[in-house]
Amino acid sequence: MLELGCGDAGNLVPMALALPGASFVGVDVAVGATFRGQGLVDALGLDNVTLVSQSIADWWPEPASFDYVIAHGVYSWVPADERDDLLAICREALAEGGVAYVSYNALPGGRLREALRDMLLFHTAELTDLGLRVAQARALLHFLAEGTPDHEFGALVRRQAERLLAHSDASLVHDELAPFNEAVYFYEFAAHAAGHSLQYLAEADFFEMQIGAASEPAAKALLGVDDPVRREQYLDFLKARMFRQTLLCRAELEIDRTPRPAVLEGLAVSTQAASPAPTAQWLSRARPARR
Ligand SMILES: C[S@@+](CC[C@H](N)C(=O)[O-])C[C@H]1O[C@@H](n2cnc3c(N)ncnc32)[C@H](O)[C@@H]1O
Repeated sequence: MLELGCGDAGNLVPMALALPGASFVGVDVAVGATFRGQGLVDALGLDNVTLVSQSIADWWPEPASFDYVIAHGVYSWVPADERDDLLAICREALAEGGVAYVSYNALPGGRLREALRDMLLFHTAELTDLGLRVAQARALLHFLAEGTPDHEFGALVRRQAERLLAHSDASLVHDELAPFNEAVYFYEFAAHAAGHSLQYLAEADFFEMQIGAASEPAAKALLGVDDPVRREQYLDFLKARMFRQTLLCRAELEIDRTPRPAVLEGLAVSTQAASPAPTAQWLSRARPARR
């Protein structure tokens, strides 16, 4: 597995620990982050992780050398030429049946995010000290959350300000105050991927592809759209989607999109669900005595 923009290897290290037979490569331009990641790799004695301190603009993989490529929190936050590099690397790196995961801010929901970002950038434009910028960003968010009249667009701004106030300082710096933060329509992302001979496979979160929440007529209309990219685009309009985690594969592969129970048989499943301990008290509540 390859991760582009791996940060301090927070995604790779747990996978490398869990899958000692697999190898992991992470690339990140931030030397401090890969240095911290390397510290973790060394402390855990992992011999299946390689971290590279380089920009994706200067790094190139062996062809078809990875089964999986992930780029989480990178695509929307880098300039256009690096977005291009990112997809070019995905294509070059992917083995024939390989899958790439790319997350990005999506439109139309991203417009609301952009409105708040514009306000935050305006308010913090004169500040160079990062700590001060974050403090002032929070001050503006409080101003909006507490002062925006609760009607029409104002209600949306207020709710978004409240949501952002719950985010960590690191996330405010990376997402809202970052020099680049470009949301794209799904059809634009799919076209960009197609330009690199990659095609849309699915969303990483299967639930996000469901049309269950749409009204019956809307769901029927969506089901009538054959092209999966167009259908997902209309779904984004309905959901006012803000964020996507899209899976891509090589464009020349033929995808069977029909969900069938038999497909699940070859897959591994994990869940956070825990069964309650079968205590006598629990059993007696589950099976009340017959009269
Ligand atoms: C939000 S962090 C995501 C880190 C990690 N993927 C995660 O999910 O926790 C984005 C990372 O992309 C890295 N990045 C930005 N531009 C890059 C570039 N041109 N080449 C490599 N890494 C880059 C940043 O240094 C940062 O570590």
